[in-house]
Amino acid sequence: MELNAAQIESIVRRVLGDMGGGHASAEIPKTARVAMLTDKKNIQVKEFPIPALEDDDILVKVEGCGVCGTDVHEWRADPFGLIPVVLGHEGTGEIIALGKNVRCDSAGKPLKVGDKIVTSVISCGECGICRLHPGTTNLCDKQGVFGLIGHNDAQPLNGWFASHLLIRAKGATYFRVNDLNLDQRMLLELACVCVHAYNRGNSTGLLNFGSRVLIQGLGPVGLMMIAVLRAAGINHIIAIDGTPKRLEMAKKFGAKTCINFREADTLDKRLEIIRSVTDGMGADFAYQCTGAPAAAADVYSYIRRGGGLCEMGFFVNNGEFSINPHFAMCNKEINLVGSWDYSAEDYPTTMAFLRQAEEMKIPIEELITHSYPLDQLNEAMEMNVSQQGIKICYRAE
Ligand SMILES: NC(=O)c1ccc[n+]([C@@H]2O[C@H](COP(=O)([O-])OP(=O)(O)OC[C@H]3O[C@@H](n4cnc5c(N)ncnc54)[C@H](O)[C@@H]3O)[C@@H](O)[C@H]2O)c1
Ligand SMILES: [Zn+2]
Ligand SMILES: [Zn+2]
Repeated sequence: MELNAAQIESIVRRVLGDMGGGHASAEIPKTARVAMLTDKKNIQVKEFPIPALEDDDILVKVEGCGVCGTDVHEWRADPFGLIPVVLGHEGTGEIIALGKNVRCDSAGKPLKVGDKIVTSVISCGECGICRLHPGTTNLCDKQGVFGLIGHNDAQPLNGWFASHLLIRAKGATYFRVNDLNLDQRMLLELACVCVHAYNRGNSTGLLNFGSRVLIQGLGPVGLMMIAVLRAAGINHIIAIDGTPKRLEMAKKFGAKTCINFREADTLDKRLEIIRSVTDGMGADFAYQCTGAPAAAADVYSYIRRGGGLCEMGFFVNNGEFSINPHFAMCNKEINLVGSWDYSAEDYPTTMAFLRQAEEMKIPIEELITHSYPLDQLNEAMEMNVSQQGIKICYRAE
């Protein structure tokens, strides 16, 4: 029997419908708790009714969510003008109800109640970037994420710092992640930032098995960047930070040379160490992962002639620095790329990275040093600011 495309689609839909669409688990509560930023440095737990499910909705019981530097930035000073807002965009949880139109995730995998899920970006789909450059939707000015939307009475469950998240937004993307554990799922968004930056660096042609790559700044971003490079087969990694705990973690992740900039406290001293492990030349490639303008200026000196740099440390505007373009860029023929966020398409690759890191026993879960329940998220933010830990998370009880 020959089937046409429409018949095949109808059969697939029926099968997928049997597996998922329109189902709900037995116990959907009437209300949900959210940790709402009501004023600068003031998160309060509030309760809202869970809205009636619409056909394209997904209701998720939250299991946890990473605290991102962006959350802390908003918590401190509201630079995005979102207050009141439920923050948290690095979240994950279990689907407890599905609208009847929802069949698959954004990669086409079938979805059902009980599946583990993460959200990715909400694309505008209409701007010039989205229409004409669909491979770079990370550069859409209107791109959003759940957790950076601002409070809305009709849809109060739009951030992951909550007991429940309601996925309801045109252009929302989400992925089934049943094969990752909770820690891996909470680290997925951070990893995605780094996988995107890896791909940006790789576009220069300078990353290969023999590359000597320098990572400047060993916060969650720099450390995850080391893990991504290792998983991609790059083993000669030079890591710089001023915090012994972070330098130790870099070593554990496989960095060959670790430099404490408080001990090697001049540019010349650091250069001497870097040259001593790169045949006197400097690094083939560098990832700049601090938000410090002084560091962003120094990094050019660490790179060899003909080498490259990925600047990824300024997700927020931390000011300017000056370099001499003759020495820093032109004479060296520096291959410079910036890296900004990620696109939904980076998610499946990042899941593959996480599985690879697990196989290689790179202990990325150790990045999570502190977890807090919903009613202690002000403390979670304070802990992030203190830099005593590495990755801070909200973990549902
Ligand atoms: N490109 C993107 O898409 C993207 C996404 C998220 C975050 N970021 C940016 O990445 C940066 C790092 O994020 P994070 O969460 O790891 O932050 P973090 O503040 O935890 O880490 C920064 C690290 O840089 C170190 N540092 C400061 N000055 C230094 C210097 N002179 N030399 C070496 N190390 C130095 C600090 O000790 C710290 O460990 C942030 O500034 C953030 O804006 C970028
Ligand atoms: Zn984030
Ligand atoms: Zn757009």
